[in-house]
Amino acid sequence: GWRTSHLYKYQGFWCQSREIESTVSFQRHFQARDTNVGLATVPKSGTTWLKALAFAIASHERFQIFSNNHPLLKFNPHDLVPFFEYKIYANDQLSDLSNLPQPRLFGTHIPFASLPSSIKKSSCWLVYICRNPFDTFISSWHFINKIKPRSQAPMPLEEAFEMYCKGVIGFGPFWEHMLGYWKESRDRPHKVLFLKYEDMKKDITFQLKKLAEFLGFPFSVEEERGGVIEKIAKLCSFENMKDLEVNKSGTSIKNFENKNLFRKGEVGDWINYLSPRQVEQLTKVM
Ligand code: PPS
Repeated sequence: GWRTSHLYKYQGFWCQSREIESTVSFQRHFQARDTNVGLATVPKSGTTWLKALAFAIASHERFQIFSNNHPLLKFNPHDLVPFFEYKIYANDQLSDLSNLPQPRLFGTHIPFASLPSSIKKSSCWLVYICRNPFDTFISSWHFINKIKPRSQAPMPLEEAFEMYCKGVIGFGPFWEHMLGYWKESRDRPHKVLFLKYEDMKKDITFQLKKLAEFLGFPFSVEEERGGVIEKIAKLCSFENMKDLEVNKSGTSIKNFENKNLFRKGEVGDWINYLSPRQVEQLTKVM
């Protein structure tokens, strides 16, 4: 059936054929510059949020954060920060990257080991978001069932769960993905910033300061006093973003409707879905 046959293991991670093609093209052609920033995540672990936050910080000189015309009010974060594998290197269409404003921001789900060597060799930065696998699983399961063709039956939770525990999920196994970036952030903390979705939910002000410093745009005392951090946090919050017209319609990533990128945006929703046996099983895997 479609449930397993649409995923292939490539360079140690599970993905669709279109993702293999774009990964190959990405590895062959991408030339990183020292000022580039790559935002890396396991799918459904806070990619949209991180893209919005990093864009707001990195573009604050071009776009006033208090403006009613801010790009984040008119565009989905995936339009502002393109994915290597779904946009730039999709269908072997190499877009012209020279026009992207500096610092160039990109997103990717590709594991660290499979990033192009120019990213590893240059001094460009990477920011990673790690989310609790319990919540990432539930978020993925909802998403998979929302985007599937109507003609196909929904994937039962039990079946998705068994596959997840074996590592069979887009860009999985999730533990390889997390460990790859985590080890790099431990060995080269100036290169990789390792953030956690749960920490960001708990104290977005602190995490935003950390992110801004890492990206080379620390907030000034005047900015802090002027409420810039709170403003960015609010602009990029789940509550604000999910109600924007642009996020209720449109398709910023091919085949994925924007509205499906916003579901609940909470920590711990898994408790409403997993049995005690499943909790035990996934805890063991973790
Ligand atoms: S994707 O397709 O990989 O880009 O999806 P991703 O954005 O990584 O994950 C979607 C989940 O993140 C929640 N979300 C947010 N949380 C906090 N703040 C903001 N702004 C935000 N935007 C999206 C979204 O609701 C999905 O999680 P769940 O648990 O399913 O609600």
